[in-house]
Amino acid sequence: MNEIAAPVKGTRPEGAVNELDASRKVREMFTQIAPRYDLLNHLLSFELDRLWRARAAKCLRSILDRSDALVLDLCSGTGDLAFALARGGKARILGADFAHTMLVRARAKAASHPALDGANTFAAMSFFEADALRLPFADASFDLVTSAFGFRNLANYKAGLREIYRILKPGGTIAILEFAEPPQGFLGDVYRWYFTKVLPKVGWLISGHQSAYKYLPKSVARFFRPPELAGLLGSIGYESVDYRAWTLGAVALHTGIRAAEK
Ligand SMILES: C[S@@+](CC[C@H](N)C(=O)[O-])C[C@H]1O[C@@H](n2cnc3c(N)ncnc32)[C@H](O)[C@@H]1O
Repeated sequence: MNEIAAPVKGTRPEGAVNELDASRKVREMFTQIAPRYDLLNHLLSFELDRLWRARAAKCLRSILDRSDALVLDLCSGTGDLAFALARGGKARILGADFAHTMLVRARAKAASHPALDGANTFAAMSFFEADALRLPFADASFDLVTSAFGFRNLANYKAGLREIYRILKPGGTIAILEFAEPPQGFLGDVYRWYFTKVLPKVGWLISGHQSAYKYLPKSVARFFRPPELAGLLGSIGYESVDYRAWTLGAVALHTGIRAAEK
């Protein structure tokens, strides 16, 4: 693999002195905001978060429709992407996250909506407590590994991409849905004003947690631009790397494939 240097190594919440500390701070933050996480997600995105996850699921439909496919939703949180992937599909979906309180909510949501219209059921979904940088899964286990708004929070992006590569089957797909900085121009400026000035205040007011909702715009500003993330995926060894930008470029879905064995 011919790797390029990443402009940033991983997320660094305020005060984090090293990778381990950054990881610990991220975990604590999500552990604390779990009770209001879903409400704020829907409110602060004007419900667009549901649309983005549904769109991502639509893009991955050919895998999700296969009854033999095994899918891992990483940084699954309260499970909303995992549920969007399961809706109407046949693949077996697992979720993993390192914040216990987020997973408690995911499991409760799965239990309260056991039936689905397709062959899948939420009740059949499993949620595991695991660190994305050290996953408790064997090599070449999954047909698809996804992450929505989680990858940006990893303390080491290259290590995260390598770990996902390891657990993907040859020919398996990675799909990362993440925020991106919107382009310049009037609408981009309005969005930036909302994201950096309004959102942190509303988030603080409702969650009671000031730093978490200040961290969100800061972590997005530090994160890769979509072409950079595509380059990083390619440098790790993913093939057919592509991305689609949605909603004025405020979010992007990156996909890539673990090379098939020759
Ligand atoms: C913004 S939430 C996204 C949750 C969900 N995917 C969604 O679409 O709403 C980010 C999640 O990533 C998880 N996370 C961050 N770093 C992680 C890591 N190293 N290992 C496992 N989970 C991690 C956090 O605990 C949190 O639940």
